[in-house]
Amino acid sequence: MALPTIREILKTPGPVKGTAARGWIKTRRDSKVLSFAELNDGSCRESLQVVFSAENGDFSSVLPQLVTGAAVEIKGDLVQSPGAGQKLELQAREVRLYDGCDPEKYPIQKKKTSDEFLRTVAHLRPRTNKYAAMLRIRAELAYAVHSYFHDNGFHYVHTPILTASDAEGAGDLFTATAMDLSKLSALPKTQDGEIDFSKDLLGRKTYLTVSGQLEGETLAMALGKIYTFGPTFRAENSNTYRHCAEFWQIEPEMAFYELEDDMELAEDLIKSITKRVLAACPSDMELFAKYVEPALMDNLRNITENKFERVAYTDAVKILEPVNDRFEVKVSWGVDLASEHERFLVEHHFKKPVILYNKPKEAASFYMKLNDDGKTARGMDVLVPRIGELVGGSERENRLEVLERRMTELNIDREAYSWYLDLRRFGSVPHSGFGLGFERMMMLVTGISNIRDVTAFPRVPGYAEF
Ligand code: 4AD
Ligand code: MG
Repeated sequence: MALPTIREILKTPGPVKGTAARGWIKTRRDSKVLSFAELNDGSCRESLQVVFSAENGDFSSVLPQLVTGAAVEIKGDLVQSPGAGQKLELQAREVRLYDGCDPEKYPIQKKKTSDEFLRTVAHLRPRTNKYAAMLRIRAELAYAVHSYFHDNGFHYVHTPILTASDAEGAGDLFTATAMDLSKLSALPKTQDGEIDFSKDLLGRKTYLTVSGQLEGETLAMALGKIYTFGPTFRAENSNTYRHCAEFWQIEPEMAFYELEDDMELAEDLIKSITKRVLAACPSDMELFAKYVEPALMDNLRNITENKFERVAYTDAVKILEPVNDRFEVKVSWGVDLASEHERFLVEHHFKKPVILYNKPKEAASFYMKLNDDGKTARGMDVLVPRIGELVGGSERENRLEVLERRMTELNIDREAYSWYLDLRRFGSVPHSGFGLGFERMMMLVTGISNIRDVTAFPRVPGYAEF
């Protein structure tokens, strides 16, 4: 039978005779006459204090087994707590031990353990206060994203994960195949001796998607305002604190939006979901402010209360060039700005989030709309302190001839994208969109400094154990 969660129990206004709670023991301490256990079920950061008194039963044989990690159901009475720190406590009358937990072997002990160690036991780390709080915030943040778009007239759409197109027009793809590549000699081959993917299950070479954008554009051309929220994959070998091979992306796409509208939406979305999590998860957020990032609340105020600075690429170069001696890669007009430059702008120069727009055509993806200057394209990145790029987006090239010319220049097979070009053939309109990296948003909100620690099962180079 389902019981109320500890979150619900702790909200009970007053004492209740005859109730029960289930969960895992966090800690237990014994005094001469009483024993106390902290019972947590993951429903909230707080644990329920359980008091064992000889007056209410003989717990002498079960108590030694109520160690950290043991799973129990406890029946008793919810009473006003005389102790400080909690309003109510559960006076135990009956204990059911589901399963014990060998303290010699259980890796999650109360003493402080490192994030590095916890990554090696990713299947157990959600049982720590920090990782449970992270996962509750992650759930709330996802909910905040959906309600933001729902409240603003967007339709949630699902774009394919298996795709034949490379949305970013660059490498870094995971090939997805139904063929057994370990049996090389048995694979169908073309006349040139290459693997013949036309014989594969989907009839062509397919990949795990890097972005739902291109399909999202087709849906925006029918539904007006859409967003996707799903996993995306990059096979780049980036071993950094902010890159994962598998990450979730939120990608809105809007018909009739120009670059300015796109930037406005990105800023509003980031502020709105940040505020929502602050309001919905005060206790979990307090944990991060207290134990993970002391400046967290100031940092988040910097996000929610300031207007993001909008800086054209050309102006950014004027700011960066004079301080080139600080950088590994020297800046001059045309250089694709790297993380070190972006962080300088955000953390040292403006000291607040920056939206960098109108990047040089050479650094722009094929689908970004070209400006009339012939040199820049209408891309934009939202840059935030500590993390750098949080959002990448653009106004899309909606002029058929310009897009075709650009694809030819970049050696992109126009045949393969004929469906994408059709959008520019039949009722083409200005439109824009962006991708917000969900894990990076989690890093921003929690202050967690490594992307491996904002998702339950990170996928990074050399690591896919769980
Ligand atoms: O800038 P990106 O590559 O843009 C796109 O994929 C566009 N097609 C999005 C669009 O316009 N619909 O990626 C968007 C965001 C980045 O700003 C970053 O936050 C995140 O996705 N991101 C990653 N997050 C974690 N690990 C990685 N390897 C990431 N690559 C990008
Ligand atoms: Mg980008």
